[in-house]
Amino acid sequence: MTATLPHWQTTPADLAAAIREVKTALRARIEASGRGVDEVFDVVARRVAGRIAEIDADLAAGESVWPVIDYADIENGTVTAAQLDKLRRRGCLVVRGHFPREQALAWDESILDYVERNHFFDDYRGPGDDFFGSVDSKPEIYPIYWSHAQMRARQSERMARVQFFLNSLWRHESDGVAWFDPARDALYPDRIRRRPPGTDSGGLGTHLDPGTLDLWMTREYQTAFRHLFDGDVEAYDPWDAAHRTTGPQYPGSTMCSAFRTFQGWTALSDMDHDQGVLHTVPIPEAMAYLMLRPLRRDVPDDDMCGVTVNQVFPANEKWHPELVAAQAGIPDVRAGDSVWWHCDMIHSVAPVTDQRGWGNVMYIPAAPWCPRNERYAEHVRAAFLTGESPSDFPAEHYERDWEGRFTADDLNDIGRRGMGFPAALG
Ligand SMILES: [Fe+2]
Repeated sequence: MTATLPHWQTTPADLAAAIREVKTALRARIEASGRGVDEVFDVVARRVAGRIAEIDADLAAGESVWPVIDYADIENGTVTAAQLDKLRRRGCLVVRGHFPREQALAWDESILDYVERNHFFDDYRGPGDDFFGSVDSKPEIYPIYWSHAQMRARQSERMARVQFFLNSLWRHESDGVAWFDPARDALYPDRIRRRPPGTDSGGLGTHLDPGTLDLWMTREYQTAFRHLFDGDVEAYDPWDAAHRTTGPQYPGSTMCSAFRTFQGWTALSDMDHDQGVLHTVPIPEAMAYLMLRPLRRDVPDDDMCGVTVNQVFPANEKWHPELVAAQAGIPDVRAGDSVWWHCDMIHSVAPVTDQRGWGNVMYIPAAPWCPRNERYAEHVRAAFLTGESPSDFPAEHYERDWEGRFTADDLNDIGRRGMGFPAALG
């Protein structure tokens, strides 16, 4: 029998002490399996190396590392077994023609019209957070959540169909618990990005978004990653949602309160693959590597390979060199295509100089209905009705008095259900 792991349901007061304590306990638990930390880490490293070899083989054959699936095939149920297999192995996807190109371009125009009509560029007060911050006074990330374009995309049948397709890759029921409902999305409101031609951008470094120290320290995550911490790493399944959708999260400046099966965005302009676009490490199993690496003895006892609260979870040359080297960028995309990546996957945005064309996206993830997302939906409803920024984001509240905002009367059934409003508003 192994002892219960020490856990912290809220951010520990003494981070270094908590890291030392949890690392000692996790190592002891792994060793109780009869194998050492290095031994189980090697199993994971070999599994990842196998994936890297597959990626290299695709590159050598001139094939796209990112799976690409036509929206029509998702709608018609004609996605092939080979396509599905590649999607599971890579954990990321481009959906071609998710929306008609003309529709996406019209949405982009309408967003510009919405912000200009409401004097956003005159009133803009600079970046409200320290993560997407830039020195320019003109924004790249618009803290805008409630435009017609965003809401129409979020509550569209086409979005719901793709989200259902992606959610269904996950195991969402086990031990008699329905961890999430794959057929109901919680419409997680996020921002837009409009990056103009000629932009010079340093990009965004390799990181991941699901959490920080809470991934090792809360009872729920310790259970979700039980196979890694029990030394039974062969049983670890990155597509298992068990215990992922109920627990708390440590607050942070870049937190996402929602459980997302996939992060995603919908392109509102054409973008070439070499114009500062998204890259991922297209290996869902890499999460096992990231979670176990800090437990090895070459990492200082009070260090989680640089992971700490209030900062993004970094992936880097020092601790994860083979992962960082395996990054793969999206292929060329056109307005109306959408891009998706598994919520635990490492990603980055490449730098660009004198960008060709626009780089415009609406961030719309797949965030299926579950206890965690139901809790957050209460904040979403309040923000929606008042035009405020949702509580996961800086309290900038630009849209409160804006003309032409999407309102409750504009919601369809998908929208009402997704936000947890009654079926028909009284
Ligand atoms: Fe991110």
